[in-house]
This record gives sequence, structure tokens and C-alpha cells, in this order.
Amino acid sequence: MKPFQLLFTPLNVGNLVLKNRITLAPMFLCYGNSDGTVSEKTIEFYERRAKAGVSLLVVEASAVDPGGIGLTRMIRVDSDNYIKGLSLLAKAIKDAGGYAVLQLYHGGRYSQQPIAPSPVETYLAPEKKIIPRAMSIDDITELITKFGEAAERAKVAGFDGVELHGASGYLLTQFISPRTNKRTDKYGGSFENRIRFPLELVASIREHAGKEFLLGYRFLSDEWLPDGFTLNEGKMLAARLEEAGVNYLSCNAGTYESRSIPEIIKRTSKKGYQVDITYEIKKEVKIPVFVNGRINTPELAEKIIRKGKADAVALARPLFADPEFVQKIFDDRTDQIIECTNDMLCGRQIVQGIDAVCSQWKKR
Ligand SMILES: Cc1cc2nc3c(=O)[nH]c(=O)nc-3n(C[C@H](O)[C@H](O)[C@H](O)COP(=O)(O)O)c2cc1C
Repeated sequence: MKPFQLLFTPLNVGNLVLKNRITLAPMFLCYGNSDGTVSEKTIEFYERRAKAGVSLLVVEASAVDPGGIGLTRMIRVDSDNYIKGLSLLAKAIKDAGGYAVLQLYHGGRYSQQPIAPSPVETYLAPEKKIIPRAMSIDDITELITKFGEAAERAKVAGFDGVELHGASGYLLTQFISPRTNKRTDKYGGSFENRIRFPLELVASIREHAGKEFLLGYRFLSDEWLPDGFTLNEGKMLAARLEEAGVNYLSCNAGTYESRSIPEIIKRTSKKGYQVDITYEIKKEVKIPVFVNGRINTPELAEKIIRKGKADAVALARPLFADPEFVQKIFDDRTDQIIECTNDMLCGRQIVQGIDAVCSQWKKR
């Protein structure tokens, strides 16, 4: 058996057949134009990785509503004006041999116009405390339609699918977490009520883009905070999303707030730190499950697939560090792979509004 044979076995995801098990996890890099349109640099980034063999590429968080934009130069999908640029991006990815998926995003309390299920303040840093405006039922209803319309635009632009951003602490997470959702109406309180918003988004996307269009979900397996969304709830939500027609889950535990705790920083610095927790979610569903987090060697990726811990790997920084990661495995040149070192230079740059570069590129 060849060393990385399992990585190159096809995988059915919705109606698509992925040629291998290596997908690009969404990664906002501050490459877009300041008006929210797709830039040439954005296209080059995705095209290059698709050409080098990545099977499915999830394009970074893209705003479904101008008020929901988090960082400057995010891609926007909130009006038909953006379809032209998005079409060029989808075509470039597909012509290069990959499947193109657009991630649909609203930052909630981390937006430029912060809104959230409840006015619970953010506490990323004392100087950055924000108390978001609590969403009215009308706000919720309007956003449910906007997510659906954004999915429809992605479809018109030629994308193969969309991925709902349900992780990292953004709006969907704020609804499912009892820490940030203190509502007493049908969108808050019980588990059933807290998951209502994401389930209604799924239904809206299905209504606008049809049953055949690929719909993935960026999934919070566990918030990793004592009073937060738990793994047990994650297991139940996974099954409910599958039942609602989601085609895959891309599991990503932790939020900005938990990921700033020293113990969690230590945990997330380990290679493959989400393999076991992702497997807990995988056991609950039949749809494909992608595992994220520091899978920066082909050996680890192959082992995950061999052990049946996940159906595919979702790599962000490893594919940023080395665009030819997949090609080098295919060509038996793994000794030439430029490894992500987890220094998070890229992460620090984007929050400052600087085009991300990788510290390892100098090794080329
Ligand atoms: C610079 C940067 C930008 C990111 N942007 C997104 C994003 O737009 N959407 C998302 O769901 N996750 C985003 N992530 C999280 C990654 O997709 C990924 O889950 C995380 O980096 C861990 O995986 P890795 O070790 O393969 O990089 C981002 C991460 C980084 C470092």
C-alpha cells in the first residue's frame, strides 16, 4: 500500500465526489478589495491551491449583511453587485480542478454594527468591551432571509455550495451558547430554542438555493468554556443539522474567548488537537465530517483517515504555508513540504488589516 493512499480515495459529499480527502478550511487573509469585492490576489490564492490538488476549497468568511462585517476587506455577498467578482473566483477554482464553496458569515457581537441574541458584553480585551444591541424578532427574520439570498447569489455566481459559519464565536454560536443567549422568547432558553436560529437558516438556504446545492456547516463541537455550549449539546445539534439537510460538518471547537485561556492555548498548540473531539461528533451522524486544527503533516492526515476519526481533513494554515502541500504528497516529495509552525503571524496581521503573509515563505 502506498504511503498516503487513503488521502487520495474519493469521498461523496452531498452530490459532489471529492477526488481526495484534503480540503481547504476557510481563511480570511485580508486580500479582498476595500469595497468587499473579490480581488485578483484573492483569486490567485485559491486558484493556486486548487491547481495543486486540493479537492474542495471553502472560501473565507463572506458577509451576508453589511452590518455583520467583522474585519476590513472581507468579501461581501449581500447584494447582486458582488456576483460578478464572485463568479470569477468560483470559475478560477473550478477550472483549476477544485470544488468551490463560499462561507456565509455574520459576526454578531463581533461586527462593526454589533448585534446579538442578547446584550451580553464581549470581553476579548478590557479596552475592547462591546455591548451589542439585542436583536428583535424582525431582525432575526430579516437575517434568515439574507442568509438564504446570499446562498442563492453564491449559486448564481457558480459556486458548488455554501458553508454556514456556525463556529468561532460569531452570530450562530452566540445563539446556541447559553452564555451569550439570554433570550426568553422562542430563540432562547432551552436547547431546542437556542438551536432554532441555525436550523431556520438551513431551511432558508434550502428554500432559496434548492435541495441539490451543497450546504456545509462550520460546526462548534464544544465551546470549551464552563458556562458555554457543551460537547453533549454539540452531539445533539450535529444530528439535528443532518436531519435538516446539511451535507457535511467541518468541526471546529473553541471560540475567541475560550482560545485566549492559557490552558486552551496549550491544548490548541498540539498537532491534531481536535481529532478526538471531532470523532465524538462523527459518531452521531452519517454525513461526512471534516476535522480541523494543526494537521500539518501528510502522515497525520493519513492516520486520521485510516483510523476513521474523520472523513476528510480541513487545513487552513498548512495550505497557506505551502500552496503545493497536496501536489507534493502526490508526487512523493513530502520532504519538501513547508510546515506551518503555529506562530500565528497570519492571524495577527489580519486583525490589523494587513495582507497576511507566512513567516515560512522565506524558506522557499
Ligand atoms: C488568518 C486566519 C483566518 C481564518 N479565517 C477563518 C474564516 O474566515 N472562517 C473560519 O471558519 N475559520 C477561519 N479560520 C480558522 C481556520 O479555518 C482553522 O480552523 C484554524 O486556523 C485551525 O486550523 P489550521 O491549524 O489548519 O490552521 C482562520 C484562521 C486563521 C489563522
